[in-house]
Amino acid sequence: MTTDNSPPRTALVTGAASGIGQAITETLARAGYQVIVADIAEDRARAITHNLREQGQKAEAVLLDVTRMESVQEAVTTVTQRTGPIDILVNNAGIGMAGTVLTTTPTEWDRMLTTNVTGIYHVCRAIVPSMIERQTGVIVNMSSIAAMVGLRERAAYSASKGAVLALTRALQADLLPYHIRVNAVLPGTIASPWIDRITADMPDPEKTREQMAARQPIGRMGSPEEIAAVVAFLVSDAASFVWGAQWTADGGLTAF
Ligand SMILES: NC(=O)c1ccc[n+]([C@@H]2O[C@H](COP(=O)([O-])OP(=O)(O)OC[C@H]3O[C@@H](n4cnc5c(N)ncnc54)[C@H](O)[C@@H]3O)[C@@H](O)[C@H]2O)c1
Repeated sequence: MTTDNSPPRTALVTGAASGIGQAITETLARAGYQVIVADIAEDRARAITHNLREQGQKAEAVLLDVTRMESVQEAVTTVTQRTGPIDILVNNAGIGMAGTVLTTTPTEWDRMLTTNVTGIYHVCRAIVPSMIERQTGVIVNMSSIAAMVGLRERAAYSASKGAVLALTRALQADLLPYHIRVNAVLPGTIASPWIDRITADMPDPEKTREQMAARQPIGRMGSPEEIAAVVAFLVSDAASFVWGAQWTADGGLTAF
């Protein structure tokens, strides 16, 4: 990851206290990055940070609510006093919700868009100025295959993840002159705590999981680590020619 004498690079991951974000944080920490575990769930963020430090890795936890600009700004200001500037930003925090346009309430709709889309706007506003100043940086935004295919009962979620893709390209257009790379990752169904929560509400959770797995052309869900591996590539210098791209990692779901 780093050349011999260069200091470790610093990566802030939002929604890092669970599932895909946790796997990204752990993968980047193992690769030698200093990681910032940023999440609204402060206790879990601290526990993950503690474990990483026990393994000799560099990690900091910070309480950050992507829906609130003041929270984001305060978190970034506080944590960068300890870590130095942020080189890599992974906008991973997100929420999911089932519903059609008719069954999604206005409050639920706003909450979805505020978390999944406006959240990225807030975090970028807090971190991008320092990347521009230093003329370097990498951003990865977590979209979803819901941005590519029509899924039933996912109206607000799909709208939010489509917006993440469009925002990724707009960000890339604006930030390219400053040598900042911006890419999006589009996971298929990933066996994270999120999926556990969705299936727990079903009459037969195990059967629902099996149906979700069967929907994937390769017959299984992805793991958070498989998404983390894509992100680790995208933030590395190995991806130096990858700009404004959308990377699906979905077991073939959108290929057919
Ligand atoms: N699991 C999947 O199948 C799947 C598929 C495609 C895309 N994704 C995307 O991947 C990302 C992570 O999903 P996951 O499956 O790991 O979910 P998860 O629920 O396991 O983790 C999400 C994390 O985001 C945090 N978070 C929620 N709201 C926040 C806020 N306002 N501020 C800061 N942190 C907040 C939560 O506390 C949690 O730690 C999401 O953006 C999701 O849309 C997931």
